[in-house]
Amino acid sequence: MNAKEQGECGDASRGQFNSRLGFVLAAAGSAVGLGNLWRFPYLTYKYGGAGADAGGAGTFVIVYLACIALVCLPLILAEILVGKRGRRNPVGSFNAIRPGTRWNIVGYLGIATGFLILSYYAVVAGWSIEYTYKSLVNEFAGFETAIPDEEAGQALAAEFISSHPGTDDAVALESARTAAGSPEAFNTRLLAKKAELHPQHLFSQFVANPVKQVGYFLAFMLLTVILVLGGVAGGIERGNKVMMPLLLLMLIVLAIRVLTLEGGGRIIGYLFKPSLSTLSWDLVLAAMGQAFFSLSVGMGALLTYGSYLGPKDRIETASAAIPAIDASVALLASIVVCGAIISFGLAMSGSGTGNVFTAIPVIFQSIPGGRWLVVLFYLLVTLAALTSTISLLEVVASYMIDERKMKRTRAVLLSAAAISAVGVICALSFNLLSGYTLFGMTFFDMLDYICSNIALPVGGILIAIFVGWVMRHEEKREELVCMNPIIYRVWNVLLKFLAPAAILAVLIGQFVFRS
Ligand code: PFF
Repeated sequence: MNAKEQGECGDASRGQFNSRLGFVLAAAGSAVGLGNLWRFPYLTYKYGGAGADAGGAGTFVIVYLACIALVCLPLILAEILVGKRGRRNPVGSFNAIRPGTRWNIVGYLGIATGFLILSYYAVVAGWSIEYTYKSLVNEFAGFETAIPDEEAGQALAAEFISSHPGTDDAVALESARTAAGSPEAFNTRLLAKKAELHPQHLFSQFVANPVKQVGYFLAFMLLTVILVLGGVAGGIERGNKVMMPLLLLMLIVLAIRVLTLEGGGRIIGYLFKPSLSTLSWDLVLAAMGQAFFSLSVGMGALLTYGSYLGPKDRIETASAAIPAIDASVALLASIVVCGAIISFGLAMSGSGTGNVFTAIPVIFQSIPGGRWLVVLFYLLVTLAALTSTISLLEVVASYMIDERKMKRTRAVLLSAAAISAVGVICALSFNLLSGYTLFGMTFFDMLDYICSNIALPVGGILIAIFVGWVMRHEEKREELVCMNPIIYRVWNVLLKFLAPAAILAVLIGQFVFRS
């Protein structure tokens, strides 16, 4: 029996997934997105650094996986359970389960968080449209002439100085030339440097252009609006069924390519060999924030999707499948992006926000057929982002539909307009507003920090307390009829004690132990 047939006794006007697989793929689609393909690789690189053996990335990855297994996994089940039982948007679901209490604040917090995440997320999502275009017209080619010899030479000289401290500026280029062994070898290095610098220039020129930033952001919002206007079942479900397996396949092909590069295998040690000396509160907080962000947990996206399930649908397996798919995609993406950075010896600058946009074009140039693979890659990044933005907009819109009694069209358009107003500021924080910072963060960075590192974990604690302590066993059991009793108990204990305590410790720790 499918979800639609089972859900007859619910509010039929709310729409439902056509199948359980559709739900799993849509929830995984919400989880898999820029968080995996863009944010995770840049954070692993941020903590790992260019030194492939430092152990920082390994520490980050292990803490991240522990957060997923011990904190996020129990929370995912809890969040979906609230949506499935409440059968409403985040605010309405808490109202339905505990009428007359203030628990609906958790729902409001979630909706506000979804609103803010979408406003900056769609900016980066917009980049993927431009990059699909750039790769289609092959803008990454032509680096031989686009980058002057002098510039590539200077970069090689600077690299020589950093690997041979004390070298005089004046002789660095000559020394690099000599060190290459032969003029041909030096020319090959010069060409490789140009291939590396070209995408970096394209990227910095692109983000510095306010019109393009705002334009692509709005274009992405429009795409999201079109899909969300179409409702839950048709577009989201069908799109995910095709795109998710394709994305996985693409990533596997790329990961194999990177792993078979000379020195490519080092990425495995880089990602999985931890070093205790690199452990810090900052790292733990970032790993937990990333786990929450990547799994879309703590703000009601999974809750909202859960509300489109039928009463008899099983949610245990789905709850385990989502993190499994999500973590695999994140690790594969890091193998590709960080692996390429390390084995190509690419020098990444800044916080690494642009890594996916600067490193990928370089790797593809060395792959047969890479000219077209790169198009496919950015197309898939775009679609992965789209399956996430849909879930974010759906959270806000479902609130307007259920609680403010608006028609879907009006609710979606109004929500998107308000989100776009904030998003424009995020888009401009890479150019016109880049000078306006608070605690060293631009408006964009600030929103990302507040949402991932504070709002999602706080939402997570509250959901854990609600399901762990406030909901009665009978209520939970009704939604988890087939769950093994031992697993149920373990889940309940994790939710009651470990999840809130761990999240709280990390949240408080960031202020006490701030480096
Ligand atoms: N999980 C998405 C990603 O990793 O790209 C981002 C996201 C989507 C966060 C939906 C929160 C959310 F509700």
